[in-house]
Amino acid sequence: MSMLVADELTKQFPGESQPAVDAVSFTVEPGEFIVLLGPSGCGKTTLLKMINRLYEPTSGRFFIEGVDARDMPVTALRRRIGYAIQQTGLFPHLRIAQNIAVVPRLLGWSNDRIEARIDALLDLVGLPREFRQRYPRQLSGGQQQRVGLARALAADPAMMLMDEPFGALDAITRTRLQDELMAIQRKLHKTILFVTHDIEEALRLADRVMVMKDGRIIQFAPPLMLLAQPEDPFVAELTGASDLLRQLSLITVERALAHPGLQPSTDETADLTPLHPQDDLRLALTRLLSVGDEGLVVVEDGRMCGRLTLNHLQAVLRDTALLGAQR
Ligand SMILES: Nc1ncnc2c1ncn2[C@@H]1O[C@H](COP(=O)(O)OP(=O)(O)O)[C@@H](O)[C@H]1O
Ligand SMILES: [Mg+2]
Repeated sequence: MSMLVADELTKQFPGESQPAVDAVSFTVEPGEFIVLLGPSGCGKTTLLKMINRLYEPTSGRFFIEGVDARDMPVTALRRRIGYAIQQTGLFPHLRIAQNIAVVPRLLGWSNDRIEARIDALLDLVGLPREFRQRYPRQLSGGQQQRVGLARALAADPAMMLMDEPFGALDAITRTRLQDELMAIQRKLHKTILFVTHDIEEALRLADRVMVMKDGRIIQFAPPLMLLAQPEDPFVAELTGASDLLRQLSLITVERALAHPGLQPSTDETADLTPLHPQDDLRLALTRLLSVGDEGLVVVEDGRMCGRLTLNHLQAVLRDTALLGAQR
């Protein structure tokens, strides 16, 4: 069963000429990492807040695991949804442990269970347990976001809504938190709706990207599809679809080696810096440019599994270009 189904969901604020969210319909499957991408004011936050019932829709409906959200008490609904935001929303006068425990306490968990949960969550988000006793202001911005993530995960919700959670962080901290979020996702298989206006973040994290503009969904597709088949000039411009390097960054070495038009060669000349099958082709290209025609060895678990050449890259790019031309 689908995790979330939205049916013509609309929010019209009083006194505004256009709806903030305009009759959007979409379906999200369990375990999907969805990124909502679009310029400021396009309705991303409003959409998340309707799903969390912080705003009531003006019209339309949505279903969580098949149940109409209006038929669920708000508290029951929010228990199944974790919410994390850019400003973290941590309570400044509560210690980290108390902040993380807010929802479990509301749910009446026993003290033992709550204490164990706090430890487990601190481990999960990569914070030392000594941080339990600190106050939010005694943590860096990135650490506070980790606490925000731990708090959102506290009652083990099926779905996570994240509204530009890394928006205020410096680039290095941000990339690190993206990596950890992806690692957590691989472990926990939550359904995630993650808002950003940063295209790199969207392409990096998403299974599918929902591109929004003026309250509407312009395209809802996997990252490579957005680049190869933008539905609309707006999407092409937003995603930089003409950027070949960006396309290469979304394709793995493994996929290029499996290209049907080319025989994987497996001669055993050793290479100093072998590629891994899961490396992306952008990285591969930068290395290939310095080695010449013989290409680069691809190694997994100490075993050579192929040799990647510029021909592979050209073949794969031709495929995605053809994909785009088929429309
Ligand atoms: N509480 C509100 N009252 C009136 N208008 C609002 C309110 N919240 C958002 N809006 C308007 O709705 C539109 C979408 O806003 P928002 O969902 O916050 O966009 P985003 O998160 O994509 O930047 C904007 O035009 C914004 O001004
Ligand atoms: Mg917003």
